[in-house]
Amino acid sequence: MALPDHFLQELKSRCDASDVISGYVNLKRRGRNLVGLCPFHSEKTPSFNVYPENGSFYCFGCGVGGDVITFIMKIENLDYIEAVKFLAQRAGLEMPENTYDDGVSKLRNRILEANREAARFYYKCLYEPQGRAALDYLHRRALSDNTIKRFGLGYSPANRYALCNYLRKLGFKDNEIVAANLAFKGYDGKQIVDRFSDRAMFPIIDLRGNVIAFGGRIMSDQKPKYLNTSDTLAFKKSSNLFSLNNAKNTGDRTLILCEGYMDVIALNQAGFKNAVATLGTALTSEQALLMKRYADKVIICYDADEAGQKATTRAISILRNAGIEIRVINIPDGKDPDEFIRIRGDKGPAAFKNILENCDNDVEYRLFKLKSRFDVTRPDSKVAYMNEALKIIASLESSVEQDIYISKLASEFSIDKASINADLKRMASQKNMATSRKEFISLSEDLSGRNDKINTEKVKNTRAAKAEEMLISFLIFNNDLCSFVKSKVTPDDFVTKFNSQLYSYILEKIQQGVSPRTTFSRDFTFDEVSKIYEIMSFYNSQAATREAMQEYINTILEEKNRLTPDKVTEMSLEEIKASLYKKKKN
Ligand code: GTP
Ligand code: MN
Repeated sequence: MALPDHFLQELKSRCDASDVISGYVNLKRRGRNLVGLCPFHSEKTPSFNVYPENGSFYCFGCGVGGDVITFIMKIENLDYIEAVKFLAQRAGLEMPENTYDDGVSKLRNRILEANREAARFYYKCLYEPQGRAALDYLHRRALSDNTIKRFGLGYSPANRYALCNYLRKLGFKDNEIVAANLAFKGYDGKQIVDRFSDRAMFPIIDLRGNVIAFGGRIMSDQKPKYLNTSDTLAFKKSSNLFSLNNAKNTGDRTLILCEGYMDVIALNQAGFKNAVATLGTALTSEQALLMKRYADKVIICYDADEAGQKATTRAISILRNAGIEIRVINIPDGKDPDEFIRIRGDKGPAAFKNILENCDNDVEYRLFKLKSRFDVTRPDSKVAYMNEALKIIASLESSVEQDIYISKLASEFSIDKASINADLKRMASQKNMATSRKEFISLSEDLSGRNDKINTEKVKNTRAAKAEEMLISFLIFNNDLCSFVKSKVTPDDFVTKFNSQLYSYILEKIQQGVSPRTTFSRDFTFDEVSKIYEIMSFYNSQAATREAMQEYINTILEEKNRLTPDKVTEMSLEEIKASLYKKKKN
């Protein structure tokens, strides 16, 4: 059974949108709204708006919008029912009985349960005779039993049916075990086989404490060195970070970003509990936004090899875009953090702390790397280096920051600061022209409806679609005028299909005595909901006069009768004649 309207009404009255959202986003008041940096895309100036009056949000930058439920769906990565449950729990509201759990969310829960049992099983096996070699391996890598327990490390047995058999006994079905990616169908197409065997196991735990995936390391030199859970219904590699569940609680809003599981665990054992790692892939902007919720500063601590340095350059640009302050650690002797600490024994933690405290910021790091590519004792190379360096400086947002590096360059090469500044100004004006051109193009595309993925007819019927959207918004904010509006315009009078369906939905809800805003997020898809809240966000409820309403109605009726090339090709001659005649009469 779908969730009843009255329950949703109650839930929303108890979960104030600005209250819930400000738990995730730093919001400032601007007029009647609240604004902040969007948590769903990278930006430096706020375009994320919260409208306290109607419990909604909309981001003009990325176009995501909705009610408080939509917000929780997106930020906590939950489906609709789970997001409602999440909010109900927060508000101390009991969920209605027999709320239907759709198949997907049920399966996702089973995956999480199977993962939890698998983690217990792997941990148990590590301390059995069969896990002896794995336990020795972890001990050899200097992990204590306490650390092993804290991270729930384990061993997946060599017998390729061990976990499947164990989970079956606990009542898990084969399809659930496969959906969790803990097993796959064997060559005969029937029998399922464990995905991980004879490996040291690293559970990946999300922010709510669920085991969402595993990494498994082989204990020999064979390949692949690490095997990771593929994406499942409960796990998306690109939007999770290893050990963020531990790191978010340290209280100092700084994270250390490493490459591997072992680096994070070794750092934890050495007392650096704020270490996290991507899961064997390059850093994504989703992960950067996730870090930003818990940190203002990220210290990149990748391997010293070439791959690690490439990854560092990439990570810098992603973190910069997310507005995160960056430091970069260069570990000496080409080691990774785990090795660096291990070979120093008792002195490891202090040595690492020393590097942490003396590391460069990202601009210093980039300038340093850049300089190593030029022979700056030669004048022509020096000019080339200066040009490249200026590009880096020009890309900085803050002029204070720019000035610091200009001064540095000027004194380092004994060049007049004024001439560096002149070069920089020239570069900046070129960049500004490019940016404003881009902005102009994107704005005109938005206005023409060319970017509208939901209402695809808008681009050809801009005037009609705009009037439809205004009338829809008017009704959403003025439920009492529903009967009047309905008597003038029917859904069939709308030119664009999406708006027509939305209009008839709104009429129906209002007639049932329910504010349509309560149920949009239940009855429309995620992208449709964003579209609806975009329509509403362009509407100024204060300017809602009856004259304006009449204007929208007139426009809709006019546009309905307008002959467009598309319509003409579909009409018979009689219909065209009739339509022209009607027009004249008007
Ligand atoms: P150790 O050798 O155990 O110290 O691992 P490491 O963390 O130093 O490994 P490395 O620097 O080679 O790799 C960093 C991360 O990339 C690992 O933690 C894994 O998440 C991932 N990774 C490494 N090798 C593989 C592989 O063969 N397959 C996959 N899928 N991921 C890998
Ligand atoms: Mn390593």
